[in-house]
Amino acid sequence: MGDVVEQGQPSRTALSIALIRAAHQLRPSPRLFEDPLAASISGFAVGELPEQWIPELLHPWILARFRVAEDAIGAAVAAGTRQLVILGAGLDTFGYRNPYPDLRVFEVDHPSTQAWKQERLRAAGIDVPASVSFVTADFEQERWDAALEPAGFDRSVPTIFVCLGVVMYLTERATLNLFARTAAFDAHTELVVDYVDLSAARSPERRAVGDPVLAEVADQGEPWQCYFAPDELAQHLRALGFDAIVDASVPEVLSRYGVDAAAKYDVFSGHILHAARR
Ligand SMILES: C[S@@+](CC[C@H](N)C(=O)[O-])C[C@H]1O[C@@H](n2cnc3c(N)ncnc32)[C@H](O)[C@@H]1O
Repeated sequence: MGDVVEQGQPSRTALSIALIRAAHQLRPSPRLFEDPLAASISGFAVGELPEQWIPELLHPWILARFRVAEDAIGAAVAAGTRQLVILGAGLDTFGYRNPYPDLRVFEVDHPSTQAWKQERLRAAGIDVPASVSFVTADFEQERWDAALEPAGFDRSVPTIFVCLGVVMYLTERATLNLFARTAAFDAHTELVVDYVDLSAARSPERRAVGDPVLAEVADQGEPWQCYFAPDELAQHLRALGFDAIVDASVPEVLSRYGVDAAAKYDVFSGHILHAARR
């Protein structure tokens, strides 16, 4: 993790992403993702949301990954999944909107971000149902998952892991270990993760949008440091036993949802990957 969390500060990028979800609720078309709690957990009234430093061009990618994840959660629950683990949950609100009575939710995050989130939940008056458990972890630690079972996680129960906007902040070693631990269970396991491919040649037009974003996240103490070429992460996951892998570029994902999939959304060659291990 970058300097911010090393200094015990909560993740500021997590707040920025929640604000994008909140702002999206005001724009009906195209509606990619519904999150009626995003504004209040961010600490703002819907009509008083602050300006965002993340350019609007990038919002569809950020929104699309939540949509893919929540669609995947619904399908997994219908097929028997009973546990959701949100890795690097930030200000994710799924656990407090969870429509599936039999789904337990484990939110895993760095202690400083999670403590701040719990303050935000209290301040916003958002009820945390008994189905949600909070687990603190540092993904740079080899056994980051050691606190899952004490929180009630059951390794024999089918589980979906969701990891959005996280791996770019980790070292590659930590990212690969993160997924190796998710594959260390006997039960059916699914994973939804997004990643960026900065090694892809980027046009000057894309760099004009992307480079200030990279500079800003680094200034916020959360520099990006982990990238994968297309199919590279899929190969790692296959080696871990994931056998059903759908790895789609952001424009491909957006076109599934009827959004103009112009390359302009592809500033970082973002990908959203859904894998299953049976
Ligand atoms: C950009 S935020 C994304 C939050 C949320 N998934 C979302 O999409 O809104 C990155 C998240 O990863 C978490 N994170 C980053 N590095 C971590 C680490 N080494 N261990 C645990 N959590 C980490 C941060 O605390 C933060 O919640």
